[in-house]
Amino acid sequence: MTDTVRFHLNGQPVEVPAPPPTRTLLDWLREDMGLTGTKEGCNEGDCGACTIIVTDENGPRAMNGCILFLPQIDGKAVRTVEGISGPDGRMHPIQQAMVDLHGSQCGFCTPGIVASLAVAHLKGATDYDDVLAGNLCRCTGYAPIIRAAEAAASHEVPEWMLEDARLVGDPAAAPQNHPPYAPTSADELAEWYLANPDAVLIAGATDVGLWVTKALRHLDPVAFLSGCDDLKQITSTEDEIRFGAMVSFTDMMPVIAPLHPSLDEMLRRFSSVQVRNAATVGGNIANGSPIGDSPPALIALEATLHLRKGEARRSLPLEEFFLDYGKQDRETGEFVEAVSIPRQTDRLRCYKLSKRFDQDISAVCGCLNITVENGTVTAARIAYGGMAGIPKRATNVEAALIGQAWTEATVREAMARYGDDFTPMSDMRASAHYRLTTAANMLMRYFHEDQGVATNVLEVSA
Ligand SMILES: Cc1cc2nc3c(=O)[nH]c(=O)nc-3n(C[C@H](O)[C@H](O)[C@H](O)COP(=O)(O)OP(=O)(O)OC[C@H]3O[C@@H](n4cnc5c(N)ncnc54)[C@H](O)[C@@H]3O)c2cc1C
Ligand code: FES
Ligand code: FES
Repeated sequence: MTDTVRFHLNGQPVEVPAPPPTRTLLDWLREDMGLTGTKEGCNEGDCGACTIIVTDENGPRAMNGCILFLPQIDGKAVRTVEGISGPDGRMHPIQQAMVDLHGSQCGFCTPGIVASLAVAHLKGATDYDDVLAGNLCRCTGYAPIIRAAEAAASHEVPEWMLEDARLVGDPAAAPQNHPPYAPTSADELAEWYLANPDAVLIAGATDVGLWVTKALRHLDPVAFLSGCDDLKQITSTEDEIRFGAMVSFTDMMPVIAPLHPSLDEMLRRFSSVQVRNAATVGGNIANGSPIGDSPPALIALEATLHLRKGEARRSLPLEEFFLDYGKQDRETGEFVEAVSIPRQTDRLRCYKLSKRFDQDISAVCGCLNITVENGTVTAARIAYGGMAGIPKRATNVEAALIGQAWTEATVREAMARYGDDFTPMSDMRASAHYRLTTAANMLMRYFHEDQGVATNVLEVSA
């Protein structure tokens, strides 16, 4: 059991006394509060029917209520579709435009779409393809929905939508105390985890949430890292940029964008706005997935991983953390504290291949960072997801490039070495042959891009 969780719901302070720690916000809203406007579709973060707005000191964000555990919203403000319309029943400009412009048919997706668009409206975001990448509509089609968003954009933000930012920090719904399973700093976490090394650490819960909603696992004990503000820090020095383990991808992207725009562009295809608002870089590394998107990019950037166990800290090249499928170099009671990347001239390109453009896990994710000086390759760091049981460097390919002239002939020779580095498997995402072929083709794409050839079909216009 947890201690009382306190937050604001549609402007009102609420207390949930000692909920089971992995009770989801969506279940609580629908089952305990009768707020059935928010829908359950997939219950795994994919469809966005459960989208609600969570506001904290960083402002409002769309999130998936189905994979958000109640302790994660302690002290925050939550707004559901019921609170997006005004207290006097007046519709939000987005809702009115959805009615006027026929943005809804069966209506099942509509509350989630309205929640996503209401956050965009509040923030002045107009890239609706991106805003709606995590909201699935099966019957209306997106054109009328986007027309509604565009029509509402010029309308003022209703007063009640500004309330939550003021309520954050209100003592009426601030966290009452901090039980040990909800540490408020890396120090507290380190001490608690040493004493409870079997606990499941919960960061953004975009992986762990599914263990509960899909695998029906009972997790006990757990520790929530969302209160550890020091793990959310991004520190920049002359030499490096250090991301705390709890930095969400939403917060990472604006820092990465000016340094390594291709990585930023790839992260825009990391799931959806709702998932990126919750998912952390520490979780993406610690889960050890062979198809996580950030590890290949971070490895190509020569990232260092910082681990901590009690007071003891150690650092290692990120690629050395991944030992084998499902096996990482992490001791019991040890956690990811941060990951850092050295400052460098940007030579990184990230290529994500997935069946859908948005909101899909990679079949192959290739990240290439090749340095060329006076026409000769002087350094190469090339890493892939989806090609082995772990995120893995193509060391034979790298060796075939280094010291050679940066020409198409060299690239072709290096492409022939992919089979020495990888024996990928066939699964529902891609065949082994497809993986090997496309991974090698990414090197040729990198070469052509470097020569100024347009390779991105999404950027071709008539
Ligand atoms: C709909 C959907 C789409 C997705 N799309 C993508 C995608 O496109 N690309 C991609 O890479 N991933 C994707 N994911 C997977 C997931 O979002 C990422 O792996 C995410 O980065 C996990 O971070 P989290 O903070 O949510 O971790 P959690 O779910 O909280 O934790 C994940 C694992 O890491 C452990 N952990 C977390 N933090 C720490 C720490 N600091 N130290 C030690 N252990 C820790 C947890 O105990 C757990 O084992 C998707 C998930 C969903 C639900
Ligand atoms: S119910 Fe589908 S994302 Fe939550
Ligand atoms: S209106 Fe039916 S799913 Fe969108």
